[in-house]
Amino acid sequence: MNQVFAKLVRGQVPKIQTEAETLRMISAVNSWHMAEDEEFIRYNKNFQEALRTLELRSKEGNPDATYLAYIQVGMVCMQCHKHVRDQGANSN
Ligand code: HEC
Repeated sequence: MNQVFAKLVRGQVPKIQTEAETLRMISAVNSWHMAEDEEFIRYNKNFQEALRTLELRSKEGNPDATYLAYIQVGMVCMQCHKHVRDQGANSN
């Protein structure tokens, strides 16, 4: 994600495609599956969709639309981690 931001700032928008694709592949085969409840699966799906949008927007080379897509990916990072934290708190 830091790489995405760096490329946005440098105006290397089309290069963001590769970052988004890598993140999406990691989440497709991820080892996070420890917390595999319905909500987690939904967040993971949202995450993949947000990354797909990021890929498409960066491919188009539009910095504003790419930045918006980047923010949306970041939102899902936060949402899923919050969910995982809440789960942990419940099991204690
Ligand atoms: C679908 C759920 C989900 C999404 C989306 C997600 N993560 Fe995670 N992430 C996890 C889980 C689960 C762990 C492991 C948490 C643990 O070990 O307690 C983790 C761990 C991490 C860690 C290590 C934290 C630590 O304490 O060692 C970082 C950093 C991280 N994620 C960053 C991100 C970033 C940045 C994004 C978005 C680009 C993201 N994650 C998206 C579920 C997710």
